[in-house]
This record gives sequence, C-alpha cells and structure tokens, in this order.
Amino acid sequence: MKRMVDDNVGIVVVTSFLTLVAAAAVRARSMKTRTIKGSDEDYRTIHLDKDKHYDGVAELASYTYGGHDWILNEYESWFSQGSSRSCIVLGMECVRTGALAGLFVLRPIPGDRVGCLEALRVHPDHRGRGLAHRLQREMIAEARRRKQSGELAVDKLRYSVYDENAASVRVAEGSGMKVAYSYPYLMVAEDEHNPENEFLGRIGPNAIQILLDDCLHAIQSFDKKQTLPPLNTLSSPEEVFSRLKAMGVEVLYQDWKPYATSVDNLGLLTEAKNHTALSSKDGLSLGTIRPDNRGKICIVTHYSTHSDPAMDVLRHFIHWLQICKREQGGEVTSFYCSYPEAAHLALKRLGIVRKEKAQLEYILDLDI
Ligand SMILES: CC(C)(COP(=O)(O)OP(=O)(O)OC[C@H]1O[C@@H](n2cnc3c(N)ncnc32)[C@H](O)[C@@H]1OP(=O)(O)O)[C@@H](O)C(=O)NCCC(=O)NCCS
Repeated sequence: MKRMVDDNVGIVVVTSFLTLVAAAAVRARSMKTRTIKGSDEDYRTIHLDKDKHYDGVAELASYTYGGHDWILNEYESWFSQGSSRSCIVLGMECVRTGALAGLFVLRPIPGDRVGCLEALRVHPDHRGRGLAHRLQREMIAEARRRKQSGELAVDKLRYSVYDENAASVRVAEGSGMKVAYSYPYLMVAEDEHNPENEFLGRIGPNAIQILLDDCLHAIQSFDKKQTLPPLNTLSSPEEVFSRLKAMGVEVLYQDWKPYATSVDNLGLLTEAKNHTALSSKDGLSLGTIRPDNRGKICIVTHYSTHSDPAMDVLRHFIHWLQICKREQGGEVTSFYCSYPEAAHLALKRLGIVRKEKAQLEYILDLDI
C-alpha cells in the first residue's frame, strides 16, 4: 500500500516536473515568438475585398471584446457607401500564409470634414510586431494621398481610444495625434456571463428591473425633494439641433463617433441609425437600440447644462431604461451611456458607476 502511495507520489512528482519542463519550453517558445519583430517584407498592406475577406475579419473579431466585437455589424457599411463617403478599409496580410493579420478602417463622417479611424485589430498571433503602428502610418499616408488627389474630403482624422488600452494609446501618440477631448463612461453592470468583456456593461432581462430600482433608489436618496418629470421626445433634427446649439454643444458623440453638430449630421443620424432624442429642461439625450452579436444594446449619449448634471443624467437614464423595457421587453442585453464630464463625480457619489473608464478622442490635422 505504502509502495503504491510512494509510486503515485512519484508519478505525481514526475508528471509535475514534466509539466513544468513542458510549460517552460512553451513559455520559452512563445517568448521567442514575442520578441521576433516582423520585418516589412513579412507583411503587405492590402485593400480589403468585401467577399474575399469576410472570414478573415470574422476571425479577427472573434478575439476582441470576448468574441462580441461590434465590427461585423459595420462590415457591410464599410463597402456600401457612395464615393464621397467611401471608407478606406486597409488590411495587413501575412506574406507567408496569406492570412489576414490586421485591419484598420477610415470612415469619413457625413456633413463634416473629419474621418474617423476605427476597427484597429491585429490577430493575436501577429501582435507585438509593430503591425498596429504600421497600419496607422499607412492609413495616414493613404488619407493624405487621397485628400491631395481630391478623392477624400477630409481635413482631420479622429481616433477614439479607451484610456486603459495602452497599446492603442501608443499607436495614436506614436503618429503625432493629440487628445482633443476625453469622455467618461458609465458602466452600469458587469457582464456576469463574460467577465472578460470589459467593453459594455451588460444587463440581462432581470437586471434591467434591478438596475432601474437601483437608479430610482439612488436618485431619491440623493435628494428626496427631486421629482422625475416626464421627458419630451424631440421629433425633428432641426429641433434637436437648436437645443444642442442653445446648450453650446459643438461636438456630438454618437455610437462612439464624434460629429460636429449640424442639421445634416443629425438628419443622417436619425435616418441612418434610427435615433431618438429626448429632452428635459436643461438636458438632451440621443439614443438608439441596435443589434449586437448576441442580442440588442441600447446606446445613449447625454448632454446637459443642468446645475447638477448628475440629476439630469439619471432622469434621462431612467427614461431610456423604461423605453428599452417597454419597446424591447427582455431582449436588450446591454446599456451604454456616455455623459458630460461634470456629472462624473456626482454619479460616483450616487454609487451608480460600477466601472470607470474614459474615452480619449485623438485628433490629427492632415495638412500638418
Ligand atoms: C491594440 C492592438 C491593435 C495592438 O496591435 P499590435 O500590432 O500588437 O501593436 P504594435 O506591435 O504596433 O505595438 C504598438 C505599441 O503598443 C505597445 N503594446 C503592444 N501590446 C501592448 C500591451 N498588451 N500592453 C501595453 N503596450 C503594448 C507596443 O510595445 C508598442 O509600443 P511602442 O510605441 O513603444 O513601440 C492589438 O493588441 C489588438 O488588436 N487588440 C484588440 C483590439 C483593440 O484593442 N483595438 C484597438 C481599439 S481602439
């Protein structure tokens, strides 16, 4: 019996030792791979073809935001717009295998002379070799070329980055981009089913109710005298525009993208993205419910001149949750809200912010 135990211990020790040796070998191999810098000839820049590259982009998407990357929702739109609004869709191809190793997109913003950089992705097998820097450099060069030839009506490039995404911040700053704005995010709930997904505060069908109660409770205990007046729904882009102008709002954030406020932009937003605008005395919010890879998400941006913006944000927030509940039942899986800087501390005080991050808005002048 003792012998058997000793043997077993021996087997465990040997197995553990072999496992350690194997793990060390794997680590050494992967460290070796990590330090190899891809030379320029290992990869080539390509313009993506809608049909040919879908699978490659889907593969890239599967590694980001816990496999719930938004980029496939936008895939069609990268290829389907008219010439003045055409996106530039760059890829990085591995010369040896032909695999799609990286992706980057420039989307001209309608009614604005700005192009938004979006969807920077590098396949995990090819990360740490300077491909993101290279995609950024080549995209800027391509934008300058097209601007000079009159193909691209864009003066500035914008690039939105989460402050915690160190690699992305390096890419932006490495190309000389400067932070023009920063915007805090309200993360309302953790995603229980997918703890790796830090992107959105996911809420399940039941959590909407809990969250709503949380908010009501927080707002009531914050100031017992405050009531929650109904919000008006603004119906035309002109109405929204005049309110935004009165509030001194110059840049409109929607769907992670900044737009200079204009009737044209608002018209396009409401038409193309089916946005609704809600207003209160001192605030305005624009929101939409759109499909996500595994359900529906509600995206809201709030603008406020309220003396206590937290109260106004919460009013709008509660109203949006009610809209989600009423119109979408239990189907809405996520709620995302961006809001004015001034509301940040007050929201934290209320205990509604469960997770904090900021979006940095980098800008580059193409003429400099
Ligand atoms: C962000 C991403 C595109 C970077 O791609 P990459 O090809 O590995 O980046 P690069 O090799 O060009 O490195 C860029 C810089 O970031 C640094 N970096 C790379 N990975 C990093 C990490 N995990 N943490 C901190 N810094 C990192 C590099 O050292 C380099 O710094 P340098 O300027 O001092 O040279 C890639 O990690 C990715 O696809 N991530 C998931 C999607 C994503 O976050 N996209 C950006 C959304 S805005």
